[in-house]
Amino acid sequence: MSKESKSLWALIEREIEAYFNEVDTLPVFPKVDSNRLFKDLESFHFQEKRDPEEAIQFVVRHLRESHLQTAHPAYFGVFNPAADPMGIAGEWLVAAFNPQLASWTSSPFAIAVEQHLLGYWSRKFGLPENSCGTFTSGGTEANHTALLTALTRHFPSFGKKGLHGLAGIPVLYGSKETHHSILKSARLCGLGTEAVREISTDSNQKMKVAELEKRIRQDRKEGFIPFLIVGTAGSTSQGAIDPLDSLADVAERENLWLHVDAAWGGAAVLVPELLPHFKGIERADSITLDAHKWLNVPMTAGMFMCRHPSILRETFSVDFSPYMPADSHGSSLPQPFQESMGWSRRFRGLKLFLAFAVTGEEGYCKTLRNQVKMGVRLREMLSEAGWKVLGTTPLPVVCFEGELPSEEIAKRVADSGRSWITTTHFEGRTVLRAGIANYRTTEKDLKTLVDTLSAVSRI
Ligand SMILES: Cc1ncc(COP(=O)(O)O)c(C=O)c1O
Repeated sequence: MSKESKSLWALIEREIEAYFNEVDTLPVFPKVDSNRLFKDLESFHFQEKRDPEEAIQFVVRHLRESHLQTAHPAYFGVFNPAADPMGIAGEWLVAAFNPQLASWTSSPFAIAVEQHLLGYWSRKFGLPENSCGTFTSGGTEANHTALLTALTRHFPSFGKKGLHGLAGIPVLYGSKETHHSILKSARLCGLGTEAVREISTDSNQKMKVAELEKRIRQDRKEGFIPFLIVGTAGSTSQGAIDPLDSLADVAERENLWLHVDAAWGGAAVLVPELLPHFKGIERADSITLDAHKWLNVPMTAGMFMCRHPSILRETFSVDFSPYMPADSHGSSLPQPFQESMGWSRRFRGLKLFLAFAVTGEEGYCKTLRNQVKMGVRLREMLSEAGWKVLGTTPLPVVCFEGELPSEEIAKRVADSGRSWITTTHFEGRTVLRAGIANYRTTEKDLKTLVDTLSAVSRI
């Protein structure tokens, strides 16, 4: 290693350390002057070389000043994590070794690590031993993969002929709480967003099963071809968990694929007392889980798990091009490029592997349990402070409202720089939403949020 690169690594180490030591004192949501931001970048016209230290200091300064500080313990937004230190270490190593995970030949260790993790999570969800899976760029790619695999199973000609020549229009079912990536995926699959049937939810924001069954019957009568039910285990908006066991019954009876989007909520299966809420997930055909949400690894590391290895392969396998390693042809070893969308594949699993290796399952369980407890505590504190608390999720997401319009309150909280929350929709109206997204959040930060809410409501 050269002297220059040694001092470069040392500089980055110092900057990361300084950031984590100081993030609690930064405004959670800095006031950003966009004009100044673009102006500052103009000096980087790349016609003259910059000193490495100067370039890095420029980036670090702007990340501090122009970035929603999701690592701040009073950040209560959607599940963007404060990154686990071992996860950060994993990202450094991946960037340095730069393995390509397309085929076993080029990166056997990296591929084995990812398969090991996918096996671990498949077992945690109760999928059968011979299940398969792939790391993805995130929950969106994992959900997109679910649509593609479900289409491939239901319509054997789909891989070759696409949607042409099908006897009717394929349709799928989600609820009001289903993540928008399903709509996007329907578009990307060529189905169009109208193919996604939105089933309404009950007072606990769970999909209404009777309405689902009725809609399937009606669709069949009208010549549509139902092929997929998407259940959600931890909705982004309110942490709702669909009645997965009942959805599995319907899927079985109607011969439909059941996909469970557990992008952030799925981490909760590590907490034994939360397991009953996920009953039925073990019957899913496929599951989405994002490690970069509630498992706190740096962005991004999605996972798609599936009980049908042959379908996953059929969905993505292509004839070998001449530059592909000859020994991967016909091999029984995992070949990620034949089981997923990409060819060049980053080693996304390493950050999760290292974080799990060091924190351990018990460590994760403790952290998640503590966050769940803080969700309960936040509900109590908000009620005591006069806010109307809504929803019933067992997960640490709290929806609530006060007398002033929720958008105005959220804006005032953001402007205060002391905390950060979002708004969301609840039974047709806009309400406030606070998620315990950060493993560094303590009761002191809950108090900061509640005090800030009271203060901005009095303005
Ligand atoms: C339930 C759910 N599914 C899917 C996604 C999409 O995941 P990603 O942002 O990793 O693409 C999200 C993101 O917030 C989510 O909450």
